[in-house]
Amino acid sequence: MLRKKISVIGAGSVGAACVRRLVERDYADIILMDIIQGLPQGKALDILESAPILNFNSHLIGTNSYQETANSDVVIITSGSGRKPGMTRDELLLANMKIITEVTRNVVSHSPNCIIIMVTNPVDAMTHLAIHTSQFSRNRVFGLSGVLDSARLSSFIAAELKVSVKDVSACVLGQHGSNMVIIPRLSTVSGVPITKLLPRETIERLEARTISGGEEIVNLLKTGSAFYAPSAAVAQMVEAIILDKKEVLPCATYLEGEYGIKDSVIGVPVKLGRSGIEEIIELELTMEEKQVLATSAEAVRELINIMKGGSK
Ligand code: 2OP
Repeated sequence: MLRKKISVIGAGSVGAACVRRLVERDYADIILMDIIQGLPQGKALDILESAPILNFNSHLIGTNSYQETANSDVVIITSGSGRKPGMTRDELLLANMKIITEVTRNVVSHSPNCIIIMVTNPVDAMTHLAIHTSQFSRNRVFGLSGVLDSARLSSFIAAELKVSVKDVSACVLGQHGSNMVIIPRLSTVSGVPITKLLPRETIERLEARTISGGEEIVNLLKTGSAFYAPSAAVAQMVEAIILDKKEVLPCATYLEGEYGIKDSVIGVPVKLGRSGIEEIIELELTMEEKQVLATSAEAVRELINIMKGGSK
């Protein structure tokens, strides 16, 4: 069987960390592409020199040329500016809009059959932009959001209750940003809802920490944003596709009426397999939860409308 090909666009911290995680899994060949001369080549070479120690055989190339990315099965887009302390993800909108439009055009012209995973923030709006620019169907373009956000919440729940993270399942939907939607009723420890295990104030504290989880790290690092957990989340999404695992993971997904929401991108659970999104899972939400989710989708739609104005 031919090995799968994964391209990572953008050799910053997140891009390079994704490459490292994926190359070590040893089931695909990887291209790390960035426009900065030497950066992808240097990082790729450094990672590749760990192969004899870690025992992987994946090919890895660092390049400044989209030609090397040709015929990728999966393309992970991480290009663009990240946040500085005090910035929201939304403030990156117009700067990253230009970059993502150009990157998406280049990706699509070299890999017309690929699946695109968007990582660049604000990720929901950038996913919408990439769908629009690529003209791909929505099952082939989606973004990183809920896998990261629910991992953050799960790690906080596990620490609070002193249980294994393995037993925790956290339900996080909506925008990857201040309008994130956490459903405590559907967040469980070995099947028991956290609403039965933790007082309301504690749940609210963990929710708030999750919603500002990216910001907490930006404020600590001061010169960059998170990349260990984001790259782990991307690798889980990529693996579900490459190994056709049919795994249900929350992803930033374009909705066409699911959850009563149209023409917006928000995080919802989807089944990921070889064709990308193979099914959108509609959880049974209460009226109130649906309303909060609709508000979240509306916040993303506002960003989409600003981009429409900005592209005139
Ligand atoms: C995060 O949540 C940067 O959005 C990214 O850490």
